[in-house]
Amino acid sequence: MTNLSTTYMGLKLKNPIIISSSGLTNNVKDIVELESKGAGAIVTKSLFEEEIIIETHENLNKMHASGFVYPETTEYFDFDRMEDTVSNYLKFLVDSKKSVQIPVIASVNCVSSEGWTDFAKRIEDTGVDGLELNVFRLPANFNSNSDDNEKVYFDIIDKIISTIKLPIALKIGFYHSNLGYFIKQLSQTQIKSIVLFNRFYNPDFDIHTLHFTSSNVFSNPSEMSMSLRWIAIMANRVSCDLSASGGIHDGSAVIKQLLAGARTVQLCSTLYKHGNDQIASILSQLEQWMIEKDYKTIDEFRGKMGQSRTFDPKVFERVQFMKYLRNMD
Ligand SMILES: Cc1cc2nc3c(=O)[nH]c(=O)nc-3n(C[C@H](O)[C@H](O)[C@H](O)COP(=O)(O)O)c2cc1C
Repeated sequence: MTNLSTTYMGLKLKNPIIISSSGLTNNVKDIVELESKGAGAIVTKSLFEEEIIIETHENLNKMHASGFVYPETTEYFDFDRMEDTVSNYLKFLVDSKKSVQIPVIASVNCVSSEGWTDFAKRIEDTGVDGLELNVFRLPANFNSNSDDNEKVYFDIIDKIISTIKLPIALKIGFYHSNLGYFIKQLSQTQIKSIVLFNRFYNPDFDIHTLHFTSSNVFSNPSEMSMSLRWIAIMANRVSCDLSASGGIHDGSAVIKQLLAGARTVQLCSTLYKHGNDQIASILSQLEQWMIEKDYKTIDEFRGKMGQSRTFDPKVFERVQFMKYLRNMD
């Protein structure tokens, strides 16, 4: 019998497929359906730091005065409805947790450690199984260096760890100086997982109307190479779990990430494109491959192609196409 179960952030999952934070995990009915289709766990749609801060006007005014909130935030948000957003989110977490057996991981999108971290206690009180923090600061501030930018991540972790006991995952982007060192340092805090990587909204514009548009809301399978490289490089070198995210669209992508060393994989674009039955299809490809290779458990092959264990570790550091360009002459 093939056993697809795994642990993640100290939680037991029946399989390593986590449905990532997105519009697919935004209401209880959809979460119940994702469980029935085979998901191992779900990460709920994020609550945003600014939504939490705006919950109390007094708090917002303080934050605004000290420059933590963008000026346009006050114009963009509807304050009266915002309190509903936050209390509805907490109710949604309570109801989701009651409605499914699989782990429910809440999510907060944040850029600072100020003004919102006490709120994490209210998330913990809903009974959810974990909290994923989606932290992303575009390193485009010309007046601060990379140390200043990266310190914020550690400040957020310190505050959250001292506030709640829930297992914490940190979802990060790849814009960091010395990414390997940064990931290793993060893993040595008390967080339980690092999610590699967040995929962000990218601006684009129309050349005819000169209006801004958003480009490629959904990923494509070629995007997986970024997380595959970094999961493989960091596996066995970090002190917490790694969850792969970005461009994972089918069973072979899941198998590759597990071989690279991921403990779980997170996906959503493939479900937007192909529907929730894709979960069963991916699980069946994984199971079939394990049967062919005679693996009974995921631990038997996890990390086998990670850089620290593979026969050709240099392959993950090769970045130039020299050979291919020569062949084209
Ligand atoms: C429509 C949509 C909404 C998303 N909303 C969130 C969000 O609220 N919080 C978050 O951390 N990530 C969010 N994401 C990013 C996904 O969780 C995921 O990291 C990203 O899409 C990469 O996975 P994929 O290649 O399977 O799409 C969203 C993605 C999509 C497509």
